[in-house]
Amino acid sequence: MDKPYYRPRRLRSHETIRSMVCETRLSPLNLIYPAFVCPGVRVKREIESMPGNYNMSIDQVVEECRGIKSLGIPAILLFGLPPAKDEVGSGAYADDGIVQQALRAIKSAVPDLLLITDVCLCEYTSHGHCGQVRDGDVDNDATLLLLAKTALSYARAGADIIAPSDMMDGRVRAIRHTLDENHFERIPILSYAAKYASGFYGPFREAADSAPKFGDRRSYQMDPANQREAIREIVMVKPAMPYLDVIYRVKTEFNLPVAAYQVSGEYAALVAAQRNGWLEKDRIILESLTCIKRAGADLIITYFAKEAAKLLS
Ligand code: PBG
Repeated sequence: MDKPYYRPRRLRSHETIRSMVCETRLSPLNLIYPAFVCPGVRVKREIESMPGNYNMSIDQVVEECRGIKSLGIPAILLFGLPPAKDEVGSGAYADDGIVQQALRAIKSAVPDLLLITDVCLCEYTSHGHCGQVRDGDVDNDATLLLLAKTALSYARAGADIIAPSDMMDGRVRAIRHTLDENHFERIPILSYAAKYASGFYGPFREAADSAPKFGDRRSYQMDPANQREAIREIVMVKPAMPYLDVIYRVKTEFNLPVAAYQVSGEYAALVAAQRNGWLEKDRIILESLTCIKRAGADLIITYFAKEAAKLLS
């Protein structure tokens, strides 16, 4: 029998050589931890479909932020659960809103943690849609004003990056314009450019109590069957693992930083399999995140951020 001509196993034979030829290195610096802030004091309520993640009152979030910083994770993404909801989601842009209060508290306690705020109305509206509803549909342009107002209010409260996730047309321009007019030119917008109408957001809607009360989000989020459409806009791809082709294509076609969001349903699926003893937790955490990075993501928003940072240190 002929001996193999090519023996790639030579470069896989031991740890040292493997690490020397490793092409993708995941670092805690690539990670962003999402957190859900709720009213109250000393509240830390586990989210049933996302074990290990919590709705936290501001005091608890501040504690969490200290831990995150000490793990070497540079940034947090904040979502808010307001004390009350209404038709227009006014809790999102109230200057004493839940996220605004959290921003001020975290900024003073952990000043060098980067604070990113999700900008969307679905957590704040009584109907659970991401914008103002008129005649049974989300009114795009009326919503832009509210989103811009929300972004400005977050910037004033100390947000370092604004991340609109609503998927209205023209939101980046509307937000940029409002921020610039108010002397927040330095604040970047991390736009969820390729955000799909995905079934993988289920657990998040439990966490943020943000499921639409009627209909769905298909008239504003993207069709999972489409790839080309994503390329016209840019930057954040979400979900991550089922959309690695989109991450790769954005990365190769545009010379820009790419962020990917490993969403709640991806987290829930992996944790459930691990709880059944079907998958090894530590391995799948690092493998899934490394694959997202290999596909081209520079920043990864993940509910595994803390565990991954521990494994990497
Ligand atoms: C708000 C928003 C959602 C997510 C991030 N921002 C939910 C949605 O669009 O329904 C999902 C994140 C996750 O599933 O982890 N619009």
